[in-house]
Amino acid sequence: MSMTCSKDFGPIRDDYLFFEEHSTEAAEDLLAYMPHVHVRTAGSGPIHMLDFGCGSGRFSRQFLALARLPPERLRLSLVEPEPGYLRQALKQLQPFSAHPAQTWPALPPGLEARFDLVLANHVFYYVSRLDEVLARILRALTPTGLFLAAIAGQKNRLIQFATYCFTLINMPYPYHTAEDFEASLDRQGEVYRKQAMHYELAFPDAEENRLKIMRFLMGDYFDEIPRQPMMDLFSPYARAGRIVIKTGHEQFVIQRQTMGAVQKIGHT
Ligand SMILES: C[S@@+](CC[C@H](N)C(=O)[O-])C[C@H]1O[C@@H](n2cnc3c(N)ncnc32)[C@H](O)[C@@H]1O
Repeated sequence: MSMTCSKDFGPIRDDYLFFEEHSTEAAEDLLAYMPHVHVRTAGSGPIHMLDFGCGSGRFSRQFLALARLPPERLRLSLVEPEPGYLRQALKQLQPFSAHPAQTWPALPPGLEARFDLVLANHVFYYVSRLDEVLARILRALTPTGLFLAAIAGQKNRLIQFATYCFTLINMPYPYHTAEDFEASLDRQGEVYRKQAMHYELAFPDAEENRLKIMRFLMGDYFDEIPRQPMMDLFSPYARAGRIVIKTGHEQFVIQRQTMGAVQKIGHT
């Protein structure tokens, strides 16, 4: 695990996949991102895209399929600290570009004004040096660049579940939330738009399924938490043999310049 990463996804890959397969979070994020992407990628020259914290590439594969960026224009860079994920993402995403993708376990310095499009979909929870890494991403945007990020805040039901479980082992919630991300943007004097997102997590009610979600949420700390209180968190959401949780998160959109300048993307 890199120094800037507070959660190792290696051991919880199956648990995160279970969350992905049983929630509408990704579908909602994709729908909301697309209008920004389509506006900003008009033109004809190269589009340099950074997928920061790409995970397995499952989300970005859908993102790129919907964005329909011409492969000869797309130059992909992937950042992912979990090596298995990075290999998988490269395999999934390389077909969208005619050029070899760049891959890094962590964002290197010295990428000033490099990317037209940066995606950080549900990543910043786990970025330890938030101000430093966010500043690096903001500097990496071109003068007409677009930065899309999703992250949940303290109102999110799953973050509330995790926060409660951490109190059981006398720990504060160790990851970042949308509130922290927004405060970091404010500290950096960044102009952004914020959009409230809504999604549903629904799965067959079984002990193993409840625990899969908790293993994804608690990561390395899962074994320290007593099982029964974790299980009980889901009981208010049990309905006819299913768990159904409606909750939400935030999307942040940073557009370096307005429509007039957009057309320059790809011509520089
Ligand atoms: C919840 S997953 C999201 C994956 C993907 N973006 C998606 O939307 O499905 C969070 C990802 O962030 C990665 N991550 C954690 N710390 C990171 C860091 N400091 N820099 C970049 N990625 C990081 C994790 O390894 C994991 O793949």
